Amino acid sequence: MEYDTYPSCSLDARRQAQAGRDNIYLPDQAIIRNIIRENSLVNTYELTLVDELANHRFSFQPGQFMMISMPHLGEAPISFSSSPDGEDGFSLTIRNSGRLTAAVQQLRAGDIIGVRGPYGRPFPADRLEGKNLLFVAGGIGLAPLRPLIEYWLSRPDEAGNLTMFYGSRTPEEFCFNRDFSRWEQNGLNLRLTVDQTAEEWDGSVGLVTSLLDGYTIDDETMALVCGPGIMIRFVFKQLQAMGMKAENIITTLERHMKCGVGICGHCHMEEKLVCIDGPVFTAAELPDPDNP
Ligand SMILES: Cc1cc2nc3c(=O)[nH]c(=O)nc-3n(C[C@H](O)[C@H](O)[C@H](O)COP(=O)(O)OP(=O)(O)OC[C@H]3O[C@@H](n4cnc5c(N)ncnc54)[C@H](O)[C@@H]3O)c2cc1C
Ligand code: FES
Repeated sequence: MEYDTYPSCSLDARRQAQAGRDNIYLPDQAIIRNIIRENSLVNTYELTLVDELANHRFSFQPGQFMMISMPHLGEAPISFSSSPDGEDGFSLTIRNSGRLTAAVQQLRAGDIIGVRGPYGRPFPADRLEGKNLLFVAGGIGLAPLRPLIEYWLSRPDEAGNLTMFYGSRTPEEFCFNRDFSRWEQNGLNLRLTVDQTAEEWDGSVGLVTSLLDGYTIDDETMALVCGPGIMIRFVFKQLQAMGMKAENIITTLERHMKCGVGICGHCHMEEKLVCIDGPVFTAAELPDPDNP
């Protein structure tokens, strides 16, 4: 599928775009190079910007997101899920959860999707350097953490110990399982758990919080937590009960967004706007850590 620009885009906006891209809402076109099926609801899309110069200049940082779009179906924020060091575009991992994301699942390699960004405050690389990093992820929550894992695994001299506790409802629902053995070979201490027992599963069964039992927290440890709101809430509570300071626990939040750039106010969380003040926040920055 190909399109030149949005049918609803005004002539003025098209002229502005041709004159120098003054319209911040005008998406770029990205071509789908490859689609990887993660599970029955989630695909990873490997994308490259169609404009060669824009593609050459494009970069992002772990934790940032793109607004994706298709004609007549609106836009949605989606986190980057590939290494920020990749030279051939970027990946987005998308769960079929509504109108736009269901339509994206119908796309094939070679099709075009609208993208604008990168947007949002990334994970703070300066605060993570040299620290022991504890990644705690649930389900598709691993997607925004994957760029960070790739980033630190490729800089072993700048990172401390890397540990990941990853939970999924069933073994089939783990995302990125093709990466697991490479990550372990490169130094990630990986523990997996599933909510329900399954026939071909001989690993841990239980919530991801159960993997935290026995883990030792010190002042050199930072936690990166991403998953469903309820998981984030219980992991925050447990980490703090284990002695971790709220400013050393970092998460990335989801809110309904319209503009993605701090104009519409749709994503407000008390006085903060998730699209520009976040989506990455420490537990200390959240107005209500019990309801992230
Ligand atoms: C920063 C950020 C990063 C994200 N990263 C990812 C990612 O990497 N992968 C991914 O799959 N998803 C990600 N999401 C979530 C994704 O943006 C949403 O699932 C997206 O809105 C789905 O769009 P849709 O049009 O397909 O669904 P919609 O049709 O918008 O519906 C999605 C769900 O939200 C409900 N909904 C819709 N509008 C509203 C509203 N105004 N108020 C309350 N509920 C509403 C619907 O009933 C439905 O249950 C991210 C969100 C944020 C904010
Ligand atoms: S989405 Fe518009 S202000 Fe955040």
